[in-house]
Amino acid sequence: MTTHAEFVRDIEQKLRTIFYGNAGLQVESMCYSLLAGGKRLRPAMLLAATELLGGNTEEALVPACAIEMIHTYSLIHDDLPGMDNDPLRRGMPSNHVVYGVGQAILAGDGLLTHAFQIMAENALNYPEHARRHIWAIREIASGAGVNGMIQGQSLDLLCEKEGGGANELELIHLGKTAAMFRGALRAGARLADAADGDLFAMTEYARNFGLLFQYADDILDATATPDETGKSSGKDAAQGKLTAVTLLGLEGARKRTKALYQDALAALAGYGDRAIYFRKALDDVMAKIDR
Ligand code: IPE
Ligand code: IPE
Ligand code: MG
Ligand code: MG
Ligand code: MG
Repeated sequence: MTTHAEFVRDIEQKLRTIFYGNAGLQVESMCYSLLAGGKRLRPAMLLAATELLGGNTEEALVPACAIEMIHTYSLIHDDLPGMDNDPLRRGMPSNHVVYGVGQAILAGDGLLTHAFQIMAENALNYPEHARRHIWAIREIASGAGVNGMIQGQSLDLLCEKEGGGANELELIHLGKTAAMFRGALRAGARLADAADGDLFAMTEYARNFGLLFQYADDILDATATPDETGKSSGKDAAQGKLTAVTLLGLEGARKRTKALYQDALAALAGYGDRAIYFRKALDDVMAKIDR
């Protein structure tokens, strides 16, 4: 079974080739954010799902990189002055701080669009698996789009103005964060031509892991330093965001993470030791907030 570090090595190597041979400010600004580190959790999870369900991870490497490009675009746009107005990302000045707002918008647009170009080109290399690839592209689009991340980000901004309760918080977290994990895991499963039961299990895991991940992100915003997270701290409360911490308090948020952890584990019950990657990912998130 492949470890996270091994997946990350392959992902980093592939990401470095994607804009190879292209020059100019636009590519420079896209690569500035794309190659700035990051945990590479979504692409690694896509590959881990393909591996768990018996698919070919080499065939899945481009879709994995594509979801990281889409994630990176979402971070560039999330940091813009019209959204979270955040000057620090991945331990470096945010894209718009370096390149200006206009170029940062275009860097995000460029990453998003190019992600779909490389997935289509990759699919053409596997004509015998065309349907798997079309399904994977569809899962990723669904996670990132109006049924996923975009919807969550929109509600996140709306509730900053208008407030909200537990229902809105759940919809924000499911949309802006869990949906991208759903896209990653379901795309990985599609590339392995997974059965409905496996797709269901991956979806359940993604939902609970994604919620847990955003709970942890909200907790770390209130408790960790920029050195630890690579981004600004204390911003959610200052901006009046609706988060797990602003709604439930630190202890209330921590308590819910324990239930989400258990629900995510339960989704893996059918896989035994083969799901070690996904159990460890849960433990790693819990370890970060358990201090
Ligand atoms: C940040 O995601 C955005 C959230 C959904 C909280 P990550 O914490 O995965 O950020 P990187 O990719 O490691 O920078
Ligand atoms: C944003 O959530 C999730 C995205 C879709 C980018 P946050 O606004 O909490 O993410 P951070 O804390 O800036 O990474
Ligand atoms: Mg945000
Ligand atoms: Mg933000
Ligand atoms: Mg946050």
